Amino acid sequence: MREGRVRYGYFDDETREYVITRPDTPLPWINYLGCEDFFGLISNTGGGYCFYRDARLRRLTRYRYNTTPAEAGGRHLYLRDRDTGQVWAPTWQPTRSNLDQYTCRHGLGYTVVRSEYLGIRANVRYFVPLGATLEIWQLTLTNLSSGVERHLALFSAVEFCLWDAWDDATNLQRNLSIGEVEVVDNVIYHKTEYRERRNHLAYFACSEPLVGFDTQREAFLGPYHGWHEPETVQRGQSRNSMVHGWAPVGSHHIQLDLAPGASRQITFLLGYHENPPADKFDPPGSQTINKRSVQPLIAHYLRSENADAAFLELRAHWDRLLGNCQVSTPDVHTDRMVNIWNAYQCMVTFNLSRSASFFETGVGRGMGFRDSNQDLLGFVHMVPARARARILDLAATQLPDGGAYHQYQPLTKRGNDAVGGGFNDDPQWLILAVAAYLKETGDATILDEPVSYNNLPGSETPLREHLERALRYTLERLGPHGLPLIGHADWNDCLNLNTFSTTPGESFQTTVSRDGRTAESVVIAALFVWAAREMAAIACWQGHHKQAQAYQDQAARMAAAVTAHAWDGAWWMRAYDHFGSKVGSHECEEGRIYIEPQGLCTLAGIGVDDESGRAEQALASARQHLGTPHGLVLQQPAYSRYYLHLGEISSYPPGYKENAGVFCHSNPWMMIAAALLGHGDVAHEDYLRINPSAREEISDVHRCEPYVYAQMIAGRDAPTHGEAKNSWLTGAAAWNYVAITQWILGVRPTFEGLQIAPVIPESWAGFSARRVFRGVTYSIAVERVGKGNACRLWVDGKRVQGTIIPLPPAGETAVEVSVKLGEPQG
Ligand code: GLC
Ligand code: GLC
Repeated sequence: MREGRVRYGYFDDETREYVITRPDTPLPWINYLGCEDFFGLISNTGGGYCFYRDARLRRLTRYRYNTTPAEAGGRHLYLRDRDTGQVWAPTWQPTRSNLDQYTCRHGLGYTVVRSEYLGIRANVRYFVPLGATLEIWQLTLTNLSSGVERHLALFSAVEFCLWDAWDDATNLQRNLSIGEVEVVDNVIYHKTEYRERRNHLAYFACSEPLVGFDTQREAFLGPYHGWHEPETVQRGQSRNSMVHGWAPVGSHHIQLDLAPGASRQITFLLGYHENPPADKFDPPGSQTINKRSVQPLIAHYLRSENADAAFLELRAHWDRLLGNCQVSTPDVHTDRMVNIWNAYQCMVTFNLSRSASFFETGVGRGMGFRDSNQDLLGFVHMVPARARARILDLAATQLPDGGAYHQYQPLTKRGNDAVGGGFNDDPQWLILAVAAYLKETGDATILDEPVSYNNLPGSETPLREHLERALRYTLERLGPHGLPLIGHADWNDCLNLNTFSTTPGESFQTTVSRDGRTAESVVIAALFVWAAREMAAIACWQGHHKQAQAYQDQAARMAAAVTAHAWDGAWWMRAYDHFGSKVGSHECEEGRIYIEPQGLCTLAGIGVDDESGRAEQALASARQHLGTPHGLVLQQPAYSRYYLHLGEISSYPPGYKENAGVFCHSNPWMMIAAALLGHGDVAHEDYLRINPSAREEISDVHRCEPYVYAQMIAGRDAPTHGEAKNSWLTGAAAWNYVAITQWILGVRPTFEGLQIAPVIPESWAGFSARRVFRGVTYSIAVERVGKGNACRLWVDGKRVQGTIIPLPPAGETAVEVSVKLGEPQG
């Protein structure tokens, strides 16, 4: 393990920003711009790209994954001193000049990079206005040199791509001949393929009159030059190139003279626009873009007062969203993640699922069925209406037999098998998401909403029937022990018990696996029990008691099968394989204990309220065998070789990914389990081990951003133990949020009302919270009066029984709750 205490920045909790103070972070530390339809990924040095809805099919600018330096592609700005010829990039990349001063502030939906070099201060703010499909870059240049007027040239540069990012990388022979642009005044319009079936275009506009421009990459860079030394910038002269095929770029060239102390603001817009198909050319019959609808938009946002107003709206938007749940606890890392960053990351995962990050290339994975259902758990309280719409989109991709596509494409909302199918856990997550939505909103109308199967018109049934079929899907696929058949895999994409892949390079995900009749998953069994209990609770809430009982019976039968066939003596087994042998059992040579069933069985209530003590024992075993200073690893011992009958999990070297990495997504299940069993110290300790803010101090070990969760941290079998990877787009966001807010702090939506049942560390004197729930603001003050988790509640001064706050009468918008926690001593 590498040692060290290097920081690359600090949290500014007041402004809700992370401030990066040196550009050479271990990896590009990124942020997301946009929260509706238009998104940008932006690194701390201005790298990244942007797209409209779908990172594969509507990508505006080119980005090169997996290259060196890690930042290849971005929002390039170059400054040139016209007197001395010196050139630098105010965001550091791509020139990597030795800036005198540099900070990058990543905020909620915006990023500001500020630097000083050779007496010039540059401040550039990037954001996407609400309701718009464009990025604004507001650059302010200030002359700090005393007594000297400065003569500068400014060059912008972006590289357009062809919008099907997959095609862009694979079909060069075509793409190299189709690039087209138009340049009118200060706007470069990218219109490749607009002549045929597209009616959308990209534009790159600048607020200032141009001295020159370029649209042809080679003309801008010069043959054999890289982005760090464009010839036009070095010479101080654009070529006014018009692209015909090859690689379209957009570069503006501006000159400005700055008196000592003077500042100038220059605005760039990088946007996406659609024209009505019948009206896409002007004049009709020509091949020229009709610019009548886009020009007013461009003019609007190029005015700095309009851009500033849009920025303030964005700030207010985030104040509102985050205002729905704010806490004040004795622990700064808890507060910071709950109040700002974890909630923010939940929004990003909700919007993008696993499609586009610096680790997900935006071409492979659309919206995951399992992933998006879980992401919703962390987001539903912020924008319930969007959660509702998402549930209906997801359910509409469900198959008539209750099964599910593993993903759908955001642009078309159609399910597809591009990343494989037959993951038998998928359908259960829909139930868990719907239950979360119902508890948060109380909106039972969603259950009667007509929703189609596989998007086929005419196939609609009420949503409740979809949930019913999801349960049935599992019940119709039980194996020899009465446990659910695993299919292609379950939550663990890499436990492929039916795949038996021997072909090098073959995808474990898309390879058709055997129609296994033997391999069973304890994880799906636990999910089923949990989902069936949620269905029972929904039915009960709706007054359908007979039906509730039927669901309870299904849950009880499955729980009995788990108890009979999946208890391994000191923990829950993971699965039965294709041969009927145990996986995740003390009988196994490797992979004897897995994290998932220990957490999920407890969440499902299996072994919790009986005398068996199994849940307690599973928790203790998991911590004993899987615990590390960097979190709980996924299983132990790590697989040291490839096991044909286990699949992808054993393809990873020990300590990485599912092969005994610390999967930050499954850790919170253990935190919730610990909280459920009343162990606040354990739950919070596990929470802090993977809390990104708490790991800021070891940034050179952790390496990923200290403000968001990564999918995994290398486990103790890995030579790089503690190193995080795959930040941002991970179910870790939603699950950690649920674990800390609902189970450790214990502020939990239920059908009947908001429940307050904290299981916090013994040392905490209490905490306070402000939670908006079904339109009512609850101000909650928890005071510890003794040991333990017993709770007494006063609501607006009156004592109430139990831990659920009764819903206030209509019209009441604010409720004060005071909670005494623990048994008073003596
Ligand atoms: C990734 C996937 C998720 C899966 C997990 C475990 O995070 O996005 O769907 O459950 O890996 O394999
Ligand atoms: C999940 C797993 C990863 C696997 C991938 C396949 O992301 O974490 O290991 O390769 O799914 O889609």
